[in-house]
Amino acid sequence: MKLSPEQHSQFDREGYLFFPGLFTGAEIAKLTAAVPELYSRREIYNVREKDSDAVRTNFAAHLVSAPFARLARHPRMIEPVQSVIGEELYMHQFKINGKMAFAGDVWQWHQDYGTWLNDDRMPTHRAMNIAVFLDDVNEFNGPLMFIPGSHKKGVIEAGHDLMTTSYPLWTISNGLIAQLVERAGGRSGGIVAPTGPAGSMLMFHSCLVHASTSNLSPWNRVAVYLSLCAVSNHIRRFKRPEYIAHRDFTPIQCLPDDCLVRDYPVDLPWKDGLPASALVTSLEELETA
Ligand code: SIN
Ligand code: MN
Repeated sequence: MKLSPEQHSQFDREGYLFFPGLFTGAEIAKLTAAVPELYSRREIYNVREKDSDAVRTNFAAHLVSAPFARLARHPRMIEPVQSVIGEELYMHQFKINGKMAFAGDVWQWHQDYGTWLNDDRMPTHRAMNIAVFLDDVNEFNGPLMFIPGSHKKGVIEAGHDLMTTSYPLWTISNGLIAQLVERAGGRSGGIVAPTGPAGSMLMFHSCLVHASTSNLSPWNRVAVYLSLCAVSNHIRRFKRPEYIAHRDFTPIQCLPDDCLVRDYPVDLPWKDGLPASALVTSLEELETA
């Protein structure tokens, strides 16, 4: 899938692009069918909400589940990212966020690259986030919110919040967020929350400031988040376990466009469990050429 010159300049200006209904119902059904079994696993890669058993985020499904392994190689997602980054990509992080009905907790205001720099020593922000909606997203079930243009600020000062939710995050203070929203237009467009049917895709800059509220509605908001990094920009430190920050820097090879509805063979290296090496962490930095 090619981006038009207008889409390239919109991405540069706003820091995100929205593709409503990019994947069909039949394609998304293959993914949603695999979620309950993945979420039911009592495995370290299922992080549950602070106050309930609901899954907040499932990591690394592309290494254990065939439908998600195929999504990780989908040309409708990989090609536009590659055209913006200008290099081959590897999968830095893969998660299926639950944001389940009544139980899904907040994601505080943050930039993803802040974490990738502070924790993983990713050298530059040449990495991209994708969100694929597995449920319809509306104003009630905790849509992702962006501050348009905030990616232009580079890395913004953040503090490590280990308390608010079950998942540690480098978060931005309310004072700074208020300033950023005001600069982005205040009440006229200073915050946007793209909503749309299951199958919609968001592509957003790794420095774009984002957040989402809790889900008090009776509707789940399951979405897949893929973080794709330029191969030469791979992380230099393994402080976080491998199921959270991947260490295989092999360039992603796309499958054909119909890969979600046809059973192309895919490798599932962690199908029978995580290797012990995936849990090993270190503060040492990799030597680079
Ligand atoms: C994230 O920022 O990684 C997730 C946000 C969300 O699921 O709403
Ligand atoms: Mn994020």
